[in-house]
Amino acid sequence: MSQHTFVLNGEKVTVDTEADTRLLWVLRDLLGITGPKYGCGLDVCKACTSHINGKAFNPCSVPISKIKATDEITTIEGLADKKTGDLHPMQEAWLDYDVAQCGYCQPGQIMAAVALVKKARREGREITDEDFDDLRNICRCGTYFRIREAVKAAAAKM
Ligand code: FES
Ligand code: FES
Repeated sequence: MSQHTFVLNGEKVTVDTEADTRLLWVLRDLLGITGPKYGCGLDVCKACTSHINGKAFNPCSVPISKIKATDEITTIEGLADKKTGDLHPMQEAWLDYDVAQCGYCQPGQIMAAVALVKKARREGREITDEDFDDLRNICRCGTYFRIREAVKAAAAKM
């Protein structure tokens, strides 16, 4: 066992665990952050999608030993405005477009969508239909059409 420190949803956290424990289990089992879901554990289904330093990643495939003390991890729990409590525009759009069915994949879908819009902005452009092909998050309920509509609506408010 060893100690590992990082920033989670704006707050410094320290856990005591084996170096090869995957970050998803650190979040879910040790820290009680259950927004990132477990689907495959193999970086394929994207149900666990969260952000590391503002970019989408899949904590199921990252051992805690790879996370630095300065790394900022954001999960769906950290997406709303901390001060005002306002939901993120992407979360609002999800409600407006009634996207979720069973809901299992949706935290990951939202985090992937936010990262996608931010990536396009960093490149100095808006998202295009082609960008949606980069969203690889699997939805067993088939909510893909509403996801696209919601992401477009949210992007206009981000
Ligand atoms: S559980 Fe992380 S990608 Fe499937
Ligand atoms: S809403 Fe059920 S898996 Fe996506």
